[in-house]
Amino acid sequence: MDFDRMWAELAPIGRSATSGGYLRAPFDSAERECAAWFAQQCQSRDLAVEVDGNGNAVGWWEPERVPPAGAVGRTGSTVGAVLTGSHLDSVPDGGAFDGPLGVVSALAAVDRLREQGFVPRRPIGVVSFVAEEGSRFPVACLGSRLAVGAVDPAGQTAMAEAMAAAGLEPGLGPSDFLTRVGYFVELHVEQGRNLVDTGAAVGVGGAIWPHGRYRFDFIGEANHAGATRMEDRHDPMLSYAMTVLAANKQARLAPTAHGGSARATFGRVDVEPNGTNAVPSRVTGWLDARADTSATLERLLAEVTRQGSQRADRDGTALTVTTESVSPQVVFDGDLARRIATQDGSRSWPILASQAGHDAGILAAAGIPTAMLFVRNPTGISHAPAESASMADCVAGVDALAQTLVRLAS
Ligand code: GLV
Ligand code: MN
Ligand code: MN
Repeated sequence: MDFDRMWAELAPIGRSATSGGYLRAPFDSAERECAAWFAQQCQSRDLAVEVDGNGNAVGWWEPERVPPAGAVGRTGSTVGAVLTGSHLDSVPDGGAFDGPLGVVSALAAVDRLREQGFVPRRPIGVVSFVAEEGSRFPVACLGSRLAVGAVDPAGQTAMAEAMAAAGLEPGLGPSDFLTRVGYFVELHVEQGRNLVDTGAAVGVGGAIWPHGRYRFDFIGEANHAGATRMEDRHDPMLSYAMTVLAANKQARLAPTAHGGSARATFGRVDVEPNGTNAVPSRVTGWLDARADTSATLERLLAEVTRQGSQRADRDGTALTVTTESVSPQVVFDGDLARRIATQDGSRSWPILASQAGHDAGILAAAGIPTAMLFVRNPTGISHAPAESASMADCVAGVDALAQTLVRLAS
């Protein structure tokens, strides 16, 4: 196993010299460099590489025994392949671990199992899904959603164009390779502080919170910043600003079952014409909202929308809200999670809910028995350069993944 070498090879790709964060947007040059690196890593291990029409790539160990397309997975057969991996794209100025840790750990786990002389009874595939973060196209986990047939490919022209511009031949839609998968396991850096607080290096996924991404378009009237009296303005920035405050407050007021509150974030804004000395004509903000139940999430969105619209009325502006991406709650297979959490009889890893979305959630929702492993993140920070994991914990994650693969592929 050569975790350190792989990690060092990926480290410079797409890294900002100023912040140390990463920009690996789907099908841009840095992300394609990562994809080429992944294909090369698979080839150097004699894993047969298969790329679907969405750009998702899988390297098969024992491809000669991979069942035919449609044989397993959602049809409920028990003889399907075991798939493991994650994604290589990033958010703008993201951390090094979100995504790549799962891909590198999957390759390292295959190395580990081969070193141990393990012979899988089911084929094992290492996967890299595209466009997980929703950083270039509005839908979260777009690569895996397309692969399971959960989104209409006809609506994804931006992705098809980006693929073509990157020299790929797009063929968006359901993936053959997923119909041969009996289990999926995604290892991921933890994106909060549960494992730090419980003192565990590794955790197991129990559930993923419902998550929505919504575009708020506030339309006002462009005008002069000096000559226009304050009372004569129709300023969409004001309507937007008040909506941001309302979202924060309403999320704090929405309790969840395990303590803490729902989440609401406006992390991205676009202003027209974006001039210092002009009242804007349009402000678009993107709300990312999450809660432990869909009902709480829906109530939160409804209340933020109501307050934003009320404020827009007062400002003489107009608000329209467009849902760009919704991910319902995912509850992972409880028996599988418990079995994985008590691997060697002497140890039990904590089972955690994730407030972050993952391709694992998409595959689980599509009926593929799915599990997640999380690796402790000492900063608790994610989607930012300070995201972190110690090498010792990364190796513990590889061990946990290797043990899990042995169980599932034996
Ligand atoms: C992906 O990491 C998300 O939860 O937005
Ligand atoms: Mn991720
Ligand atoms: Mn992420």
